Amino acid sequence: MARFEDKTVLISGGAGGQGAAHLRAYIEEGANVVIGDIRDEDGAALAARCGPRAHYVHLDVTKEEDWAAAVTAAEERYGPLDVLVNNAGIPSPAVLIEDGDPATWREILDVNLTGQYLGIRAVVPSLRRNGGGAIVNIASMAADVGIAYLSPYVASKWGVRGLSQTAALELARYGIRVNAVHPGVVRTPFITEPAAPNEPPVGDTFSPDALAVKRLAEPDEISRIILYLTSADADFVTGADFVIDGGLLLGPVVPAEKAA
Ligand SMILES: NC(=O)c1ccc[n+]([C@@H]2O[C@H](COP(=O)([O-])OP(=O)(O)OC[C@H]3O[C@@H](n4cnc5c(N)ncnc54)[C@H](O)[C@@H]3O)[C@@H](O)[C@H]2O)c1
Repeated sequence: MARFEDKTVLISGGAGGQGAAHLRAYIEEGANVVIGDIRDEDGAALAARCGPRAHYVHLDVTKEEDWAAAVTAAEERYGPLDVLVNNAGIPSPAVLIEDGDPATWREILDVNLTGQYLGIRAVVPSLRRNGGGAIVNIASMAADVGIAYLSPYVASKWGVRGLSQTAALELARYGIRVNAVHPGVVRTPFITEPAAPNEPPVGDTFSPDALAVKRLAEPDEISRIILYLTSADADFVTGADFVIDGGLLLGPVVPAEKAA
């Protein structure tokens, strides 16, 4: 049975990468989905390909007025929101803290952390009109450890984790659940394209060979956990962090010859 029949879902950063996979997964399960992004051409074309249950809006997550317009568009087209997936995010260039540019730090915090904060603020009245709902904030395995050279990205994702737990506490009284998802390395332009000019893409240097699951994640694998968390199957789940990283945070596995 379709778990999201006639539910209204809003996904930020939905024009490509993981957001596009989440859009397709929700559509397959009966939802009406508004995707917001700053890539207007790609987003509009993707929504058009998905048919009348998908709609694209311009949404720069750092802009309160864009969030307000996105919620209004979703409500007018499909009715009050049931789900927000706070997915939009940008990577850090690889640079030491002492050499980094404070403007870059501020930009990454603004998109990755303040963008999610503004998203939560914007959707709460709509979710309340609906009698409750679910929010998923996309963090990262970078919210569980320090990673040298990536200080703004790591700090933004640790911030998302704290924001999620705080929102879960504050919004429980409205029947709104809030959880965070911490993906490992996922095959999207985020890692197949350089984060900054003259840098190799992360995907060119990252090797999963020593890990428990010796491959990258595919975007639809992340979609499945998001759909679970925002479905009635997860009615008892809030304030939680869901790591989906193929064992990356565990570190290298014991090689077979050493275990024998
Ligand atoms: N790919 C990975 O390995 C990985 C791992 C862990 C977490 N994540 C997180 O997953 C989320 C999705 O990333 P992805 O892998 O799909 O990357 P992606 O680069 O393919 O997609 C990110 C999307 O966010 C959009 N975006 C950027 N700035 C925006 C803004 N200001 N307003 C609205 N949209 C904006 C981009 O246009 C893009 O469509 C991000 O939050 C990222 O930090 C990614």
